[in-house]
Amino acid sequence: MQPVPDIVTAYADRHTTPDDALLSELAQHTASTHPHAHMLSGHVQGQLLSQMSRMVSPLRILEIGTFTGYSALCLAKGLGAEGQLHTIEIREEDAATARKFFDRSEQGNRMYVHIGDACHVIEALKETWDLVFIDADKVNYTRYYEMVLPRTRPGGWIIADNVLFHGQVLQDPVKGRHAIAIDAFNRYVRLDPRVEHVMLTVRDGLMLIRKKNEIA
Ligand SMILES: C[S@@+](CC[C@H](N)C(=O)[O-])C[C@H]1O[C@@H](n2cnc3c(N)ncnc32)[C@H](O)[C@@H]1O
Repeated sequence: MQPVPDIVTAYADRHTTPDDALLSELAQHTASTHPHAHMLSGHVQGQLLSQMSRMVSPLRILEIGTFTGYSALCLAKGLGAEGQLHTIEIREEDAATARKFFDRSEQGNRMYVHIGDACHVIEALKETWDLVFIDADKVNYTRYYEMVLPRTRPGGWIIADNVLFHGQVLQDPVKGRHAIAIDAFNRYVRLDPRVEHVMLTVRDGLMLIRKKNEIA
């Protein structure tokens, strides 16, 4: 099932600021060389991530699931001079592609690629996050959320991608281990008194989560 009709997506695409030359080149490079190119966030979602990042003006961004680096480049647009983006990718080849493109970007010297399993790397990064983007293996979303929430500053943000999981979360009952995991994540966040959240029906669904100020 397509959560958002193609005609709506095409209209939104036409009425969104175009990607810059580097993002366009990376999207084209990924589309022409990578067998899983569909994983890349894409134009409208990418511009949304850039705008959110600019609104937050984060000092520290964490991305879980780099792929070829498209969403990281988008998120990095909101970094100030002292800001840093840390992104985690388990596949060395994709991390290498991302690094090559980061090195050509204005924020490249403040972008750090960590190669490895996010479950281990998150633990090792001793930072307080202003903005986190969860976009790796779906079965671990709740785990990643629980790992990063204590290290997100009060009033900070977590964005989770694919929360509609191609519309499969709408099935009754939900089938397939990825859709089941995402549905469980959505319910977990809904019942979590530590946060406020909104589900956006952009692309494959984004959950925008804000850690409440009074939570340590
Ligand atoms: C949907 S893609 C990320 C897309 C990227 N954020 C973008 O929008 O361009 C998910 C990525 O997470 C990586 N990944 C999967 N499991 C992981 C894990 N346990 N630790 C780190 N990365 C992982 C995959 O190799 C893949 O590149």
